[in-house]
Amino acid sequence: MQVKRLDQTETHERLKACARAMAQPAKHLKHLIVAPDRLESFSSYGGGLFFDYSRQRLDKETREELVQLAQGLQLHQRFDQMCSGEMINVTEKRAVLHTAARSFDNQPVRVDAQDVIPDIARVREEIRSFSAKVHQGAITGSTGRPIQHVVVVGIGGSYLGTEFVSTALQAFADKHIQLHYLSNVDIHNFGALVERIDPAGTLWVIISKSFTTAETMANTAQVETYMRDQGLDPARHMVTVTAKGSPGDDPDRPVLQSFHMFDFIGGRFSVTSAVGGVPLSLFLGYERFEEFLQGANEMDRHARSAPVLGNLPLLAALISVWNTTYLGYPQQAIIPYASPLAKLAPHVQQLNMESNGKAVDLQGRFLPAPAGVIIFGEPGTNAQHSFFQLAHQGKPFPIDFIGVRTPQYPQFRSMSKGVTNHQELWANMLAQATALAVGKDDPDAARHFTGNRPSSTIVLSDLSPRNIGRLLSFYEARTVYEGFIWGVNSFDQFGVQLGKTVASGLRSRIADRNRNKTVQFTDLDPISRFYLEMLMG
Ligand code: F6P
Repeated sequence: MQVKRLDQTETHERLKACARAMAQPAKHLKHLIVAPDRLESFSSYGGGLFFDYSRQRLDKETREELVQLAQGLQLHQRFDQMCSGEMINVTEKRAVLHTAARSFDNQPVRVDAQDVIPDIARVREEIRSFSAKVHQGAITGSTGRPIQHVVVVGIGGSYLGTEFVSTALQAFADKHIQLHYLSNVDIHNFGALVERIDPAGTLWVIISKSFTTAETMANTAQVETYMRDQGLDPARHMVTVTAKGSPGDDPDRPVLQSFHMFDFIGGRFSVTSAVGGVPLSLFLGYERFEEFLQGANEMDRHARSAPVLGNLPLLAALISVWNTTYLGYPQQAIIPYASPLAKLAPHVQQLNMESNGKAVDLQGRFLPAPAGVIIFGEPGTNAQHSFFQLAHQGKPFPIDFIGVRTPQYPQFRSMSKGVTNHQELWANMLAQATALAVGKDDPDAARHFTGNRPSSTIVLSDLSPRNIGRLLSFYEARTVYEGFIWGVNSFDQFGVQLGKTVASGLRSRIADRNRNKTVQFTDLDPISRFYLEMLMG
């Protein structure tokens, strides 16, 4: 399929004209949102979620252009190609099949004529069986102590998605197992972690697709030394999740069990594979992990087939591109009014920025302007008391507000000022979206609010495993659709490599000095030399 970029479509110039029209005073959000049919017309329910974009700076004409853009760029067909196993990660020559990781219909999905579904089902069964054995006490620590602590050792996509889901579903967790994360190579993390665990009852889950990532290798070495120092056999307290054939997949490497992840699932899209499957099944129980997968699968099917105007992730992607490329907002915030979603923004930061922070198109040509959005976020109402001054009066940024109808702890209903805490939370979320959109005229400039600041509101009925799966898949599909629109390959990450290469050069010079105290850093640039002398001196 010959794919175009956004700026190569006929719609591009028309959308630029729409953006100029939206700058007119008559198009201020305070006027748009009072239309009686505004909410009904600018919202949609699908894949189990409600998406309200009535407070986005959009009118019906602009939205129609965006629908045409989606059709012109053949976005549905491209999403379908992805789900069918076509090699759409062109730079790495790989299929992109995170959706297959949560498929349950046994329909074959072929990569190079090979059906991948049986392998995925096998790994799921291995996870189910392993987690059941740990829960039943058939697998214990090497001294026979039950497993009470599970530590994920991994970084980036090998940890952020799992942390999002485990934080969101903490209320459902098996209270006998605590889940911890060791991602950063910073020794403060390791030092603080070992104060909280009982090594004899600890299972280390080493997660690395490549099994070469420096931070994860350093932390694994630290773990092995620590366990030996405690008189324990590290191999009997360790499992790995890694790509078939990676250095961690060595049959001679003694670990309790090794679970495969596949090269057609990228790290930041991998939480529904063994990457999330192993720790989340231990933490929540396999059944809850599978409910989470089913929610993701439901949203995948919605993202693949729903027509543009009823397709939540596709609409959200079009709005995101509209806001970034045409209205000129370089950043977006994710503000969930639900603390269990505290790790959603850190996950979407990687998912979205590593995927779409690109400067070249699928043919390897520089884009007219770099793609991507700066994502950040924090739960409300905390965010209000942190950076909402800037949101209301400083530099504007579009916001995804996320509300949850029924909280995980509905039993606590004591009232303050006539409302429950949960009602207070909702009052705040609704107030923020309205205040940002409408603003306030005041003769005192310091108290004047320009308004016209866009937001969407996403509503989940509750924070069940199924709904967390739906939300995860919503943000994944939105990211994929954005990448299709900008015309980039969302599935490689060469931008991360340069820093790794420079770090590797410095690491080898530090290692030289560790071996031989007389080694000088004269070959380094003066700034790096200054810091290394300070560190080693
Ligand atoms: O940060 C770059 C990156 O390659 C991510 O894409 C990936 O999720 C992470 O590092 C970890 O990689 P691995 O799973 O191979 O250790």
